[in-house]
Amino acid sequence: MMNWTYVMDETSLPEGKMIPVSLPGVNAVLARIGHAVYAVSGKCLHKKCPMFNGTLEAYTITCPCNGWQYDIRSGKFIDAPGLCLEIYPTKSEAGSVFVNFQ
Ligand code: FES
Repeated sequence: MMNWTYVMDETSLPEGKMIPVSLPGVNAVLARIGHAVYAVSGKCLHKKCPMFNGTLEAYTITCPCNGWQYDIRSGKFIDAPGLCLEIYPTKSEAGSVFVNFQ
């Protein structure tokens, strides 16, 4: 069952930008690419650096600490796709963005 959580208004996240989401039990990063909003875990798999402080280029999010890169659509670590950041479904409705963190 989908459990949607309101996280922000759509206008809060410009194209090509990231925003951190911190809720009880949740540490995530949202990114907008085109019309799509993606949500992934906010902690790098290497040493748990905050991904929000990294960079986003096209669909690649790069950790600020040691440069591990992930595909924001799938969460896959580019050098070893068996490793994945957790990803969360998102949806936009009536100008609001919702994420299913479960
Ligand atoms: S903590 Fe992210 S690459 Fe090292």
